[in-house]
Amino acid sequence: MQDLEITRPDDWHLHLRDGTALPLTVNAAARVFRRVIVMPNLKPPVLTAAAALAYHSRILASLDPASACEGFEPLMTLYLTDRTDPAEIARAKASAVVHAVKLYPAGATTNSDAGVTDITRVYPALEEMQRLGVPLLVHGEVTDADIDVFDREKVFIDRTLEPLVRDFPGLKIVFEHITTEQAAAFVATGPATLAATITPHHLLYNRNHLLAGAVRPHFFCLPVLKRNTHQDALVAAATGGSPRFFLGTDSAPHARQAKECAAGCAGIFNSHVAIESYAEVFAAQGALHRLEAFASFHGPDFYGLPRNTDRIRLRQEPWTGPDTLSMGSDPVIPMRAGEQLSWRVLAEQVA
Ligand code: NCD
Ligand code: ZN
Repeated sequence: MQDLEITRPDDWHLHLRDGTALPLTVNAAARVFRRVIVMPNLKPPVLTAAAALAYHSRILASLDPASACEGFEPLMTLYLTDRTDPAEIARAKASAVVHAVKLYPAGATTNSDAGVTDITRVYPALEEMQRLGVPLLVHGEVTDADIDVFDREKVFIDRTLEPLVRDFPGLKIVFEHITTEQAAAFVATGPATLAATITPHHLLYNRNHLLAGAVRPHFFCLPVLKRNTHQDALVAAATGGSPRFFLGTDSAPHARQAKECAAGCAGIFNSHVAIESYAEVFAAQGALHRLEAFASFHGPDFYGLPRNTDRIRLRQEPWTGPDTLSMGSDPVIPMRAGEQLSWRVLAEQVA
């Protein structure tokens, strides 16, 4: 039995949804993560600082103080559209609750229809973000029908991200939930203004988990799981110690019936097993000594925020992930359902 104590981590990419979903999503995250970057792809999307502020209040209202860590803080984001006014960026910056702006290429993923149709249309908003030091968070996939779904991230790098990094040398950019060796290499060799988040599921799984022998909808997320050589490159990037890579779970619940159907939704709920799963990946690489920096240092350092000061303790001890969770009146089949996990978080807070 081994214990591991690390500075309390933050989650730099999270979907909390809204309404009756919030008690599940907020409290599963707040159990471990002090700060969470909250994705804005609601229906309707979070387009203004005022909407972000109202959403921030709804999130805090669903927090259970008995289970949440002290000082839980949702860091809000705005949803970028072709029509985002640069003045809204300034209002967001002044709000103190908005910490970033999210770029969804229109049609790339869940609730992205209002996203950006042509990157040059948002250049005025990006100029203002660069000027004010507001990071841009990028869903890095092209949406062209003629580009294979497994190639969409790689093509996005060449067509959109590379020019973006060149045209905005002062803009902080986070390439979210990277899934390919090309993305890992692009970030590792790029300027210091460029970073990436890596999810636990892209470290644990590859497309065989999704497709070999049967279609398993609870392994479907976007960007889609890639072949195992990409998985290996992501594991090497996450566990290698580079400050360019940090924790972002992309935990994104959908009701069971919305995933087990003819046109199943993309997204995997993992907040309740996230740090435990990352610990497993790092342990398998003999890199547990690097988990703290990935989970708790690289993110705040990149965003220019202070590192957390309290700590959590993990224990190497087997337990079984829950088969199902409740989101309002809907069942959710979460990541690692019925699987054995090898680390658990001890409940008591460590000063
Ligand atoms: C996310 C969701 O459901 O909101 N889905 C997913 O597969 N990751 C959206 C996203 O981050 O692409
Ligand atoms: Zn996401």
